[in-house]
Formats: sequence, structure tokens, C-alpha cells
Amino acid sequence: GSKMFTYDPGFTSTASCESKITYIDGDEGVLLYRGYPIEQLAENGNFLETCYLLLYGELPTAAQYEDFASRVTRHTMVHEQMNRFFSGFRRDAHPMAVMVGTVGALSAFYHDSLDIADPFQRMVASIRMIAKMPTIAAMAYKYSVGQPFVYPKNSLDYTANFLQMCFSIPCEEYKVDPVLSRALDRIFILHADHEQNASTSTVRLAGSSGANPFACIAAGIACLWGPAHGGANEAALAMLQEIGSVERIPEYIAKAKDKNDPFRLMGFGHRVYKNYDPRAKIMQKTCHEVLTTLGIKDDPLLDVAIELERIALHDEYFIEKKLYPNIDFYSGITLKAMGFPTSMFTVLFALARTVGWIAQWKEMIEDPSQKIGRPRQLYTGATRRDYIAVEDRV
Ligand code: SDX
Repeated sequence: GSKMFTYDPGFTSTASCESKITYIDGDEGVLLYRGYPIEQLAENGNFLETCYLLLYGELPTAAQYEDFASRVTRHTMVHEQMNRFFSGFRRDAHPMAVMVGTVGALSAFYHDSLDIADPFQRMVASIRMIAKMPTIAAMAYKYSVGQPFVYPKNSLDYTANFLQMCFSIPCEEYKVDPVLSRALDRIFILHADHEQNASTSTVRLAGSSGANPFACIAAGIACLWGPAHGGANEAALAMLQEIGSVERIPEYIAKAKDKNDPFRLMGFGHRVYKNYDPRAKIMQKTCHEVLTTLGIKDDPLLDVAIELERIALHDEYFIEKKLYPNIDFYSGITLKAMGFPTSMFTVLFALARTVGWIAQWKEMIEDPSQKIGRPRQLYTGATRRDYIAVEDRV
């Protein structure tokens, strides 16, 4: 069996917990889902297989995979009345704002899977979340570009279906490019789970009170949106665009090193990885594959990214602080090349991370010793003192 890993109690976290789902070794740059290295899962598997692994702990047999995939496929449509939520938003609303609102609103529809004490309802809610996130994400995109919503096609696999819901239009046939679909599927695998990151801790804390899973996932989406977390993929591309050319990189490296300057190199550094994020390596390879497939010879943003990484990795500030590219550094270039607007990058991150949030929520709920989360604090405020009448205040 796999070597038992112990959770390093020294690692500070608001909701330190035990989990059997994902293991990260930040010094070695290791990432395992249920013991399997991320490199092998990304190379050999697909996202839905990874969903099964994260949820149930084992790689599915062919029969188990078929059953799981068909259950997910049968839940890809959303209630037709969901469309009315979208029409309430401004067309230029950020798609993440739409996601927080509409995913939270699922708890206003699916009353038959809100009781977290019922294992069957928990299973239904999990399948619904995984199945409907691509549909809702695609609707958020269509709404932002003023095109009609596209229904899921059950004849397509999970990621191909998502691409057609995003990019097909009524007036012409849309053919999913298998290479792009495979690349996006691999990108979803890379984003599926990551131990107790901020948004997963948010979902666990919200779920620990017994709140329903749809509301907990909405809380996770809200947290992921921040530029220090999932919003970094959007911010990293904006940074590369702002830098614009290789010549201007030194100016930004200096800003990143200046303690008085709030500027951070987006897509660099990590709370846990003090080595190269293993996902970033796979993302860089996927980026080259996608650009080649699309016949994009020299993307100036990629040139800036590669040169920025080269300079940073040789700079004593970044070496001493162990700052390396993370998963968000190359993802934006890849997703932009695929045709997604930057405002959708974090939505795609949320789509993929939903299975990690749900798996960790399920693990917590099914732990009989589970209690409501209650992070403690170190009080550094005023000591006890008596009330002062307003006329006596200075
Ligand atoms: C994700 O937690 C997860 O697992 C998240 C995630 C997941 O899958 O869920 O991996 C996804 O969110 C990846 C991270 C995406 N964020 C960004 O790329 C934003 C830019 N990165 C920084 O904001 C920062 O690196 C954080 C927020 C990611 C981590 O910040 P910390 O906790 O300050 O990092 P650290 O403690 O390792 O910093 C060490 C030092 C600090 O300087 P000192 O206080 O020691 O003087 O390095 C500095 C930091 O100020 N530093 C940076 C930097 N990141 C950290 N300096 C310049 N540029 C950076 N990007």
C-alpha cells in the first residue's frame, strides 16, 4: 500500500485538518491525488476519471467509469428557470460575480438534495454540482457576450461538451477540436484539488455548520475569485500584457522586489510550494501544444513569460524566497489562445476545482468526529475598561 503521510502540524492554517485526498510536498514540488502523481493522471487519465478518484478514493474500473460518466451526463442540464437569474445581471458583470450568484441560487431550486445528513441526497448534490458547473459556466460566458445559451450535448464527453456550450452558435455547426479538448481536460485535472487552499478551507468551514453544498460551493467561488488565489490567472495575463515586451521585464522585477511596492509577480510564489509547482511544468507543456495546434508561432506574451521566468529564477531575491512559477503563470496564455476572454479564466478554475471542493466537503461531512469549525484567535485588543459618558469623551 502507499506510505502513510502525516499532516505536518507545524503548517499554520485556519482550519488544520486531516484528509486522505491530496498530498503536497512543497519543498519537493510533489502533488498526489489519492496517492497518484499529478503528472501520471494528467498524462494518462481524463478529468471525469480524476473526479471519480477524488470522490471515491480509487481509480474506477471501466464499468464504474461508465456508470459515473453516464450519471454525470444525465445531470448536465439546469432547470430552465435558471435562465431568469442571468437576465437580472448587467451584461458586463464579471462572470465570477454571476457564478457566485447562480451557484448559490441552486439551493433555491434543488430542495431534494439539501439534507446533508442523507447520504443519497449528498451523492445527488455532488453529481449535480460536477455535472452543472460547465453548463452554468458556459451560460455565464454566453451571457457576457450576448449570445444565446447552448444546451449540453450528451453525445460529447465532459470537456468537449463544455467547449461546444461556450463556442457554438445557432447559425453554424461547431466542431470540437480534439487536441484543444484534450488540452483543456488536462488543465481541469491540474486544477481539480489542492489540499487545504483558501477556497477549499472556505468550503470546509461553511460546510461544517451543516450549510447545504450549493451554498458552500458558492462560498468557495467567492474566495477563489481573489487575485492572490484563483484570480491570479486573470491577473497574471494582465501583468504580461502590461509588461508588453521583454525589454520592460527588469522594471517589473524591480517593482516585485520593492517591499514598498504592493506589486507582486502574478503567477509566482505559493503558500506551500517552495519549489517549482509541478502543475506549472505540465501547464507550460500544454501551452506549447495548444499554441502549436492553433498555428500560433510566436505569441509575444509567451516570449515575455518565458523570459520573465528565466530572469526571476536566476535572481537572488526569488531564489532566496523560493519563488517559482505556479499553476497560474502559463494558464492565461493557454486559455486566451483557446478563445476564452480573461474574465473567464477564474471561472474555468472554479469549474475544475468544484470536484475538489465537493470531495473535501464530503470527506468532512462523512467524518463522524466532525464538529463545526471554530478557528481560535490571539486577542491583542484593549484590556477591560468602563464605559465613558459622551460628554466626558475627548
Ligand atoms: C493559487 O494555496 C493554494 O494551493 C493555492 C493554489 C490552489 O491550487 O488552490 O495553488 C492556487 O492560488 C496559486 C497562487 C496564485 N497567486 C498568485 O500567483 C499571486 C501572486 N503570488 C503572491 O501573491 C504570493 O506568492 C502568494 C499569495 C501566492 C503567497 O504569498 P505569501 O504567503 O506572502 O508567500 P510567501 O510567504 O511564500 O512569501 C515569501 C516572500 C514574502 O516576502 P517577505 O515577507 O518574506 O519579505 O516572498 C514574497 C513575499 O512578500 N513574495 C513575492 C511574491 N510572492 C511572495 N514577491 C514578489 N512577487 C511574488 N509573486
